[in-house]
Amino acid sequence: MPSFFHPTVSVLPFLSFQAQGSRDFSNSFCCIIVHPQQEEVVLKKKISIELASRVKHLPPYLFAAIDTMKQQALKKGTDLIDLSIGDPDIPTPSQIVQAMKKAVENPVHHRYPSYEGMLSFRQAVARWYKRRFHVNIDPGTEVLSLIGSKEGIGHIPLAFINPGDTVLVPSPGYPVYPIGTLFAGGNSYFMPLKEEKNFLPDLDRVPKNILRKAKLIFINYPNNPTSATAPAHFFKEVIRIALRYNIIVCHDASYTEIYYDEKPLSFMQIPGAKDVGIEFHSLSKTYNMTGWRIGFAVGNREVLGGLGKIKTNLDSGVFQAVQDAAITALSLSQEALAPIRKTYQERRNILYNGLTGLGMNLMKPKATFYLWAKVPPHFTSMGFAAHLLDKTGVLATPGNGFGDAGEGYIRFALTASAGRIQEAVERISKIL
Ligand SMILES: Cc1ncc(COP(=O)(O)O)c(C=O)c1O
Repeated sequence: MPSFFHPTVSVLPFLSFQAQGSRDFSNSFCCIIVHPQQEEVVLKKKISIELASRVKHLPPYLFAAIDTMKQQALKKGTDLIDLSIGDPDIPTPSQIVQAMKKAVENPVHHRYPSYEGMLSFRQAVARWYKRRFHVNIDPGTEVLSLIGSKEGIGHIPLAFINPGDTVLVPSPGYPVYPIGTLFAGGNSYFMPLKEEKNFLPDLDRVPKNILRKAKLIFINYPNNPTSATAPAHFFKEVIRIALRYNIIVCHDASYTEIYYDEKPLSFMQIPGAKDVGIEFHSLSKTYNMTGWRIGFAVGNREVLGGLGKIKTNLDSGVFQAVQDAAITALSLSQEALAPIRKTYQERRNILYNGLTGLGMNLMKPKATFYLWAKVPPHFTSMGFAAHLLDKTGVLATPGNGFGDAGEGYIRFALTASAGRIQEAVERISKIL
């Protein structure tokens, strides 16, 4: 008798289960449990499914609530102006699409890619870094391809955080920093980003005992959601703290190429940066490639090696045709990207001038495609987002979705046409 025929539990193949008129459980077994005392046969039709505590402990997903609000508004027939999502509405430049079409025909690309990325892709990253930031990056050891920067950001705590370790996380901030930390069993210490400090974390205010416990810090400039940029002296201070307390720095630089005046800095431009950390980049926002899923990390080879170890065990890299198209993207001249920046600049001016003209309080973004505005007095972030949607059909993201310190703010994304943004301002003018 096979070992699974335990005296009290019989496991029968699927066919006998189906004979009872149950749903198709192909490839599964059904379970007949014979209770020894009652000699009663109970057919268990379901297993009890329980989420792991790391999933149970996820904070409530505010964006799901916004999506519900959005769906309800659409059902009511609202003419929605959706400024809630950081997903560019502009298509990927045609040179990149053409490169992809060609690459996809090449059978060399149909096989598993290497987890660290093709050498030609890593070389293109190194050339781009040199051209854009005047920084030398070794394509052999200092570049790692990512399935979008989110993938690397979400996975990095798994490489360096043990249960109970502390990670320094900005609030408001991109939700993946604390979620990745939570999945690794770590604890996030939230560093508030305040307007009076130009939305830079005040590292002097982080208690010494927290700094001593911290293993990793996330920073992100140009910043989502506040749109703030970071000066070199801030990055220098981060390096000083990292060296003093032995903290790995993870700088999320996803928005360095969406700027309006001065070019934002790379953390890697600051002497000593490579000794303490890495920088994440994304092709999503720069080249309107959110759906393509490609990004990369550069910097400290040991840190990249740790992240690479996680990746070799969890994913199989980025489709090589996408990497080939990304090489074309990274080789585009700054002039080729000028029309994209001009489009966002026009939208930014309409929304910034419009909202400030209506008395709203906000900083003029120097970079990113976000506007971070204070909600009018007597409103919570969520309350104002709901009011805005209900009365004007304009959807924006309540600031508390990015952490407690985002309460009192609302984020507008410049991901609709200039005409629609102008219309949003006109509609908002009727309720303010
Ligand atoms: C700050 C920040 N980092 C990272 C990402 C992830 O971008 P992707 O995974 O598309 O590269 C986003 C996306 O919205 C973001 O806002």
